[in-house]
Amino acid sequence: MSPRSAIENLRGSLPVVAPSMLMCDFGNLEREIRALEDAGAQVLHLDVMDGHFVPNASYGLTLVETFRRLTTLPLDAHLMIANPAEYAPRYVEAGADLVTIHYESTDEPDQVLAEIASMGAATGLAINPPTPWEVVTPVIELCDLVLVMSVMPGFGGQRFQASALEKLSHLAGLRTTHGCESLLLEIDGGVAADTIGGCASAGADVFVVGSAIFGNPPYSDRLSELAELARHGRKSLIEKR
Ligand code: DX5
Ligand code: ZN
Repeated sequence: MSPRSAIENLRGSLPVVAPSMLMCDFGNLEREIRALEDAGAQVLHLDVMDGHFVPNASYGLTLVETFRRLTTLPLDAHLMIANPAEYAPRYVEAGADLVTIHYESTDEPDQVLAEIASMGAATGLAINPPTPWEVVTPVIELCDLVLVMSVMPGFGGQRFQASALEKLSHLAGLRTTHGCESLLLEIDGGVAADTIGGCASAGADVFVVGSAIFGNPPYSDRLSELAELARHGRKSLIEKR
């Protein structure tokens, strides 16, 4: 299966909860991945941090290669790194199916997105809470996914910033006005049982969840509860249309 089609397949099973691999037990990574697979996870969100673009350093290419070796689940690489022009292609080579760069990390998001797409991977553009949603408009055709951050990137366990909801609604509207209905909207940061429904009602399709899963096993209960809440929220979105 091509990297891009791995993400395409997610469209058929929205809403999707994407476990954020930042607070998992890296000392037992294979066991964690098997537990998530058994719990019904459909994608893994890999939080790559370089200690420059964000004030934290997590992991890089070697661990993404390890994830690739350990699972056939689609890998959604969230690159919180400086210089994505140089490194984004290397994350495609390392096995990421979707590579999301930060708008704030490059002067040429269009070039980097085009390069990722040319390598056969799906493309994502992330915007931080202070970044206006309008920056997406000029490059929307180059995006398979837009990642709306509901926290400043760098750490799990932060409080959800509700300003993300209005951005999601605007971007959901842009999908229609720009004829890109297949654009996926992803939300990341402080997503939990009390916030996921609002995100779904605002238009999110993919929900990155870290501490609300990894702090409270069993993963199967958390994933199914969160997916149910997202489905419920999504219903109200469809009724609004
Ligand atoms: C933050 C990361 C998020 C984070 C999510 O920079 O991009 O994916 O790990 O963790 P929670 O769900 O705990 O906010
Ligand atoms: Zn993330």
